[in-house]
Amino acid sequence: MSRCKVIAGNWKMNLDAAQGVELVEKLKSEFSGCASCCSCDRGPEVVVCPPFTTLPAVVAAAKGSRLKVGAQNIHWAEKGAFTGEISGAMLTTAGATHVIVGHSERRQYFGETDETVNKRLQAGLANGLTVIVCVGEQLLERVDGTTKAVVERQVRAALAGVDAAAMSKVIIAYEPVWAIGTGKVATTVEAQEVHAFIRALLKQIFVGSNVAETTRILYGGSMNPDNAAGLLAQKDIDGGLIGGASLKADQFAALIRAAH
Ligand code: 13P
Repeated sequence: MSRCKVIAGNWKMNLDAAQGVELVEKLKSEFSGCASCCSCDRGPEVVVCPPFTTLPAVVAAAKGSRLKVGAQNIHWAEKGAFTGEISGAMLTTAGATHVIVGHSERRQYFGETDETVNKRLQAGLANGLTVIVCVGEQLLERVDGTTKAVVERQVRAALAGVDAAAMSKVIIAYEPVWAIGTGKVATTVEAQEVHAFIRALLKQIFVGSNVAETTRILYGGSMNPDNAAGLLAQKDIDGGLIGGASLKADQFAALIRAAH
């Protein structure tokens, strides 16, 4: 079964509106000769996820191109007294089509739990967004040999209550925490092993459906133009969720090309 690859850029807390628009314009010019790829099923799905305040400007700049725009978080309530949070309607009104939930930086620094990741994922789906849900072990967990147990717990919790039909709008990103922003990338063997494990898990969770075969599982953690080809060639790696290298037009464009 061939799955359309995804190259998604997580800008994190980087680039103001003007810088974000400039990056999108550069990416558009890189791919101006390939406009037909936007709608064909050969090219990867390309997503950029800027900070909230930059969403409208980036959506406007990306209009008419192959780029889709996602947010970096979503709250589960429709509205209310939730200082610092953002609702699904606010994101869709701003033009977002995708949202990242459960990033390890949210889990590590902002108290995100398996339960809140599930609520945010459900909110994304309820608002018609494609949800990129992140899972991944910390360095100590890898050293202790608990990587699979941690990833299994995170995947099962994140997808609790999600039915097979809704999974067409869920993308899983495996991001080993020790590889994020460190320049240390998982080897192709290490990454493929966990991706295959996640796919086998989907088979167990969604028995009797084709969810395991159709769900895209992205790798994240120091992916760059030098290591992308090896990772993307793995059977169960369907793209990348990219931090640092997504902030530079030439590097992100090279990653998009690597996924072609
Ligand atoms: P880096 O590509 O900078 O390691 O970040 C990965 C990441 O956290 C994407 O969400």
